Amino acid sequence: MVMAREFMFLALFLTCVTTYMSISFPRGWKDTEISVKPAFANLHSAKRSKFKSLMQTGYLPSTQRNVITSVPTSLPTCGRPVTNFVFIKVHKTASGSTFRVLARFGRNHGMTICYPALRRKAIHIQLSYPSGKLTKDDCRPSPGRKYNLIIHHSVMNKPAMDRVMEPGTKYIGIFREPLNHFRSIFFWKRRVARRNENPLGAFLNTTHDRKKTYSKHKNFQAYTMGFPKRLMTSKNETQIYEEIRTVAGWYSVVLITEYWEESLVLLRRKFCWRLYDILHTTQKLHALHTKKEHVSLTTEQEETHRKMSNVDYMMYDYLNKTFWQRVTNEGPEFWEEVTYYKTLNSEVNKHCNSVGGKRVFPAGKWSQEFVIDSPFCKELKWKEDRWADACWDVVERQNEETKQILKKFSGVK
Ligand SMILES: *[C@@H]1O[C@H](CO)[C@@H](O)[C@H](O)[C@H]1NC(C)=O
Ligand SMILES: *[C@@H]1O[C@H](CO)[C@@H](O)[C@H](O)[C@H]1NC(C)=O
Ligand SMILES: *[C@@H]1O[C@H](CO)[C@@H](O)[C@H](O)[C@H]1NC(C)=O
Repeated sequence: MVMAREFMFLALFLTCVTTYMSISFPRGWKDTEISVKPAFANLHSAKRSKFKSLMQTGYLPSTQRNVITSVPTSLPTCGRPVTNFVFIKVHKTASGSTFRVLARFGRNHGMTICYPALRRKAIHIQLSYPSGKLTKDDCRPSPGRKYNLIIHHSVMNKPAMDRVMEPGTKYIGIFREPLNHFRSIFFWKRRVARRNENPLGAFLNTTHDRKKTYSKHKNFQAYTMGFPKRLMTSKNETQIYEEIRTVAGWYSVVLITEYWEESLVLLRRKFCWRLYDILHTTQKLHALHTKKEHVSLTTEQEETHRKMSNVDYMMYDYLNKTFWQRVTNEGPEFWEEVTYYKTLNSEVNKHCNSVGGKRVFPAGKWSQEFVIDSPFCKELKWKEDRWADACWDVVERQNEETKQILKKFSGVK
């Protein structure tokens, strides 16, 4: 009997150790298919190879190494995780994938979502898009509580959002390289265009939207992120840059689509979350990519878009620089964590796509122990609307509790 029990312990111990090893020191992780980008972000091939080598070494390229100023000797300890935030969901920036990650976090932390009161808004995952107008009446009621989660499509309107949200709410934005964004949003709700030979090139052969302050193709991301319409057509670059700095200053973190997973790690660090919180499906969200979207454009055509969407280009430039500066400030351990995260995430996906069921992921340098199970795996595939509903269910439960408490009180005379 005793022998059998000891043997069982030994077996269990060995299983733990091997699992731990495979997570901490994944055998030949270089061979593992680690996505260096979200499938929907298309980096130009030159940039991609540069970025890939960067990812494989896990460190910044040598030219950037000397920029690193602070190297933390021990991991910064975290206080309380941020559980009060607005995500500005910009169309065609991988914001859908981000939505799913953030909604799961919101549901897991019992956050009170401002769920669109209007059904026609809700089905399009919209809140204050495209007007930017928002009052608490635009959210489904949550008596006695302020909201601490907005993730539906909204146009940044800080004063209005601050009024609706719990005090101290943090803002998360997202931004994509403007030409990539243009290629993607161009075909959105414009399927007919796909029939033409080279719709993007034809479109850029003539100038468009000159009279508009913004449009799908013109400074769309800047507009959604809160850049004021009145300055959109300004010819004064100093003024535009000043405003970009102001807008960027409203956000705690701005995710960069081209470096989506790196952005999530930065978010995790800034918001004191766990790696578990940013696990995501590696399945492509938008598999509908055609050759027409990736067609090569002439320098003139690219220049036309650059001129048309000038604020987006300036803003991307600023936000991307800021992003890399912040990554640099995190020190080289940041890249160690990114590599660990990508491996962990691909392990989780592999598990969910094969055996499924319960599995313990032991603690490692960058993550606490966590367990995934079949509900987790099922949820990994949930679409945005399913997640939005799950967040609403939390509020409904909260509302029910409030009702019960009020009933009790009114019963006591
Ligand atoms: C765009 O203009 C260039 C130069 O005028 C022309 O060669 C090209 O065929 C045009 N492209 C499309 C798709 O119309
Ligand atoms: C451009 O904007 C800056 C900052 O708002 C201002 O100081 C400057 O006078 C403006 N320049 C012109 C030519 O209007
Ligand atoms: C973003 O910034 C990095 C670092 O400065 C640069 O290497 C990279 O080319 C930029 N990305 C894009 C898509 O412009």
